[in-house]
Amino acid sequence: MANTVIIGAQWGDEGKGKIVDMLSAQCGAVVRFQGGNNAGHTIRVHDEQTILHLIPSGILHKDTLCLIGNGVVLDPYVFLEEIDRLAERGIDVSPVRLAVSKKAHLILSYHKQIDKAREAKLVGQKIGTTGRGIGPCYEDKIARVGLRAGDLTNPALLREKIRHALLEKNTLLHELYKLDPINPDTVTGDLLALAPRLTPYLTDVEARIEEISAAGKDILFEGAQGMHLDIDHGTYPFVTSSNTVSGNAATGSGVPPSFFTRIVSVSKAYTTRVGSGPFPTELLDDAGTYLREKGHEYGATTGRARRCGWLDTVILRAGVRVNGFTDIVMTKLDVLQNLPVLRICVAYEYGGKRCDRIPQEEGALADVRPVYEEMPGFEDGIAGCTSFEQLPDTVQTYIQRVEELVGVKISIISVGPERKQTIVRQ
Ligand code: IMP
Repeated sequence: MANTVIIGAQWGDEGKGKIVDMLSAQCGAVVRFQGGNNAGHTIRVHDEQTILHLIPSGILHKDTLCLIGNGVVLDPYVFLEEIDRLAERGIDVSPVRLAVSKKAHLILSYHKQIDKAREAKLVGQKIGTTGRGIGPCYEDKIARVGLRAGDLTNPALLREKIRHALLEKNTLLHELYKLDPINPDTVTGDLLALAPRLTPYLTDVEARIEEISAAGKDILFEGAQGMHLDIDHGTYPFVTSSNTVSGNAATGSGVPPSFFTRIVSVSKAYTTRVGSGPFPTELLDDAGTYLREKGHEYGATTGRARRCGWLDTVILRAGVRVNGFTDIVMTKLDVLQNLPVLRICVAYEYGGKRCDRIPQEEGALADVRPVYEEMPGFEDGIAGCTSFEQLPDTVQTYIQRVEELVGVKISIISVGPERKQTIVRQ
């Protein structure tokens, strides 16, 4: 192993939870460094399913410390609910195993209200957010008026920050969105009531990482969402509000960029997207429905049906450039079984020309036409395969062609949701 960053190569939901769970067995700690409970990471062990939104996907391994870094936006209610659900199943979620950076920003009720009100109001473009208050919380962080987890130990500061924030928010909520204003004393009181349960989890994440590293243990950095939902490099404005790329693993957890030795890209064998925004290889026909049903492509966070399409190697190559991927994990390969043909998008046609890169002008990705290569499908089940050589020839060819097109080795192949349904290539 090595200090490893795991990044979704597409628009999220690539199956990172299973891979983090698998790799974290060999690690001292798993760190979440961006996003919040807009994420939904699913892990299946012996038919038991665990869906995590905030707590790192290493929590099922009892010797792995789970850290929530400064780059995460934390909804305190969701955090405690998630702790309770895991504790009910006998999983140790005490502060010995789980800790949160004092510098992580808190999602409060007004962030969620503003998020939902904006989407409902249809002023401007509808992004199709998860409605979890992610964007408004990051806005406050950048505007330097946010509340941080460490403020929970300072009631006077907390009270003053909430009073100040609501002066502005209540005007917005009342005047523009025609909603009732929020009482600052109620928000403060509710938060202070939670503080005794939350404060034992607060920590100096950088110091904990340093300790674990000094003990000779490797650390895993768990990305949420996907590369093309990145606020700078994604399909703006149809993106999330944080940097989802590997560079932010350093900023969002407080380690230098030189800390990482492996940067793993997780990509489905096809593509999905939730919410609005361009999606060149989207399938609006029976093949799209087939992928959705066979792949159970419904959101773990919101239950929304995911849009489905062919694998797009233009977007995978863009990910390699920005993230420096060392290897790729390909997930859900089994879902492609029984499709008569398999298509891979190798380039786009844009403005009458062939192009190998994503055009950068806003909205341009909606105007490209995918250029496909085709190969025959496969009928044999692959969910029981344990080595690359056991896969049908067409599937091996598919994998090798993707490696050629993207220029990075596919090191792990997932052929089912269970831990054991994973092929690790030498
Ligand atoms: P937000 O992150 O809730 O602000 O939503 C912004 C966009 O990112 C929407 O299109 C969401 O559907 C999408 N999104 C956010 N988190 C995830 C995720 O974990 N998986 C897939 N899409 C996501």
